[in-house]
Amino acid sequence: MIEIVGLTKTYGDRRAVDGLDLTIPTGELTVLLGPSGAGKTTVLRCINRLVEPTSGSILVDGVDIATLDPVALRRSMGYVIQNVGLFPDMTVRENVAAVPRMLGWDRRRIAARVDEMLEMVGLDPERYGDAYPRQLSGGEAQRVGVARALAADPPILLMDEPFGAVDPLTRERLQREMRHLQAKLRKTVVFVTHDIDEAVLLADRIALMRDGRLEQHDTPEALWRRPANDFVSRFFGENLGLRVIIRHCLADVTLKPLPHDAGGLPRVDAGVSLKEALAELVGRRARALLVMRDGRPAGVFDFDVLVESLSREDGRARA
Ligand SMILES: Nc1ncnc2c1ncn2[C@@H]1O[C@H](COP(=O)(O)OP(=O)(O)O)[C@@H](O)[C@H]1O
Ligand SMILES: [Mg+2]
Repeated sequence: MIEIVGLTKTYGDRRAVDGLDLTIPTGELTVLLGPSGAGKTTVLRCINRLVEPTSGSILVDGVDIATLDPVALRRSMGYVIQNVGLFPDMTVRENVAAVPRMLGWDRRRIAARVDEMLEMVGLDPERYGDAYPRQLSGGEAQRVGVARALAADPPILLMDEPFGAVDPLTRERLQREMRHLQAKLRKTVVFVTHDIDEAVLLADRIALMRDGRLEQHDTPEALWRRPANDFVSRFFGENLGLRVIIRHCLADVTLKPLPHDAGGLPRVDAGVSLKEALAELVGRRARALLVMRDGRPAGVFDFDVLVESLSREDGRARA
């Protein structure tokens, strides 16, 4: 657990962070969201002590990080930033090995770990291991950045707009991979973005910031249903509901029973999100879809099913 208590950081007379209290639960992905200049990056950099607070404190598992050695602290936290910051003169393998090497792991353990990490982020170690950063696409480089941050298996992962610099399609793919990775690894992740869709897709909880202060800290579902104030409603806009349904999948809703003439309906897999299912209804100009589970018809999805599922309280399942 990361506890941020009364955190303030001033630059001259500007308060980048202004008396922030925020608790980040272990094993969850918390998104710091907010307009540019809200103080998100400053908070992240205070957590790994690249920035020292003007006042307030940060505790990790009850220990005030001000009492720890900053270098050791940083090694216990993976850090991924936009444009990655890979070491240009090192190969992909050497980049990923950087922290384990500093920690003094033996060579065989490092080599095995590097291959494991590259495979985990979807890069073939044979093909990419000896490449240099300049030979990679933006998306590949970003994957190496994630592999490098995870290499020493840090309990905490700090990510600052990690997918901000890649094209939209690659970005979506990286976001989906991040989601699967986190479902498996359950790190304590603090993820900074100003992108609402990215936040809604990835977050267990979103901390919405403005002018260095916290406006609301909640699940995306709760931000949608119970915005704390006008700023929160305006920031998320009218269609937050439409965005939130990407978090829920057909397998989690109560479908209509199969009619006897279901054969003519367009088919959709139970693993897709409600958002994709809705897009499918619209795209096919269909009134209903036949939901397939393990290759067998499981029920019918239509607009009534969608509305019914939304009227239930914050069922939080992941598509
Ligand atoms: N090193 C710095 N020197 C002066 N001002 C800074 C510095 N870092 C951040 N700021 C200011 O603090 C505010 C918050 O910045 P930042 O944390 O980068 O916001 P965000 O990541 O939400 O866009 C901004 O007004 C920014 O200009
Ligand atoms: Mg920033």
